[in-house]
Amino acid sequence: MSTAKKDYKRVTVKSLVEMKANGEKISMLTAYDYTMAKIVDGAGVDVILVGDSASNVMAGHETTLPITLDQMIYHASSVIRAIDRALIVVDIPFGSYQSDPKEALRSAIRIMKESGAHAVKMEGGKEVKESIKRTLNAGIPVMGHLGLTPQSIYKFGTYTVRAKEEEEARKLKEDALMLEKIGCFAVVLEKVPAKLAKEVAESLTIPIIGIGAGNGVDGQVLVTHDMLGMTHEFNPRFLRRYLDLYTEMTNAFKKYVIDVKAVDFPNENEQY
Ligand code: KIV
Repeated sequence: MSTAKKDYKRVTVKSLVEMKANGEKISMLTAYDYTMAKIVDGAGVDVILVGDSASNVMAGHETTLPITLDQMIYHASSVIRAIDRALIVVDIPFGSYQSDPKEALRSAIRIMKESGAHAVKMEGGKEVKESIKRTLNAGIPVMGHLGLTPQSIYKFGTYTVRAKEEEEARKLKEDALMLEKIGCFAVVLEKVPAKLAKEVAESLTIPIIGIGAGNGVDGQVLVTHDMLGMTHEFNPRFLRRYLDLYTEMTNAFKKYVIDVKAVDFPNENEQY
């Protein structure tokens, strides 16, 4: 069942701002490969994020820091080949935009040109303002990302809720306003108090997409492998698991092993 208010044949950055204005919530999920993206897009998810969480989910790294620009472009181009409707946003990975605005623009151009993506995402507020501005000036749509920014995990030290204290909350609100002012089309708010996230969403015209930010924002994003229950060590309070694929898949693999060992697979109908 779809609860969409308007039938968007193709979701654009403009559609998202329109959805917010019309009170329609935005759905966003991650994908890093063709097959998953095809299913996510076919189900009507509005935005697909080729997140640098691929570093954890696909490559098994502890953090998002090791993934490279080339690897992000590989994931993004696989996703792009699968989609008919969703807007595709690609994370610029750690180390590919922080040092100077020209580097940010070069990285964003490579992502757009080599993968065919529709927009990029960068983490941070005023520290990366010039990088974001330079990218926007080249006509590349940028999504911001505030609150818990996993590329700065070694600065924070933990993955706990951000902006609980007044000073950090104030900076977050200023950064969100600044991102809107310079031209970002949306902002992800990760792991911040629901009251603060709602306040930020209500003060901006661009959509705020939350992850662990309550339901007072304009849309939600989850890591697909987490919401499908394929990962099972990661259990934050905000995560709703829609399936338990870890168990389902384990049982299927076990059954396959049994069938192969018992010479039950393949049977007569499964051979030539
Ligand atoms: O990389 C990612 O998957 C993300 C989401 C958690 C927002 O940035």
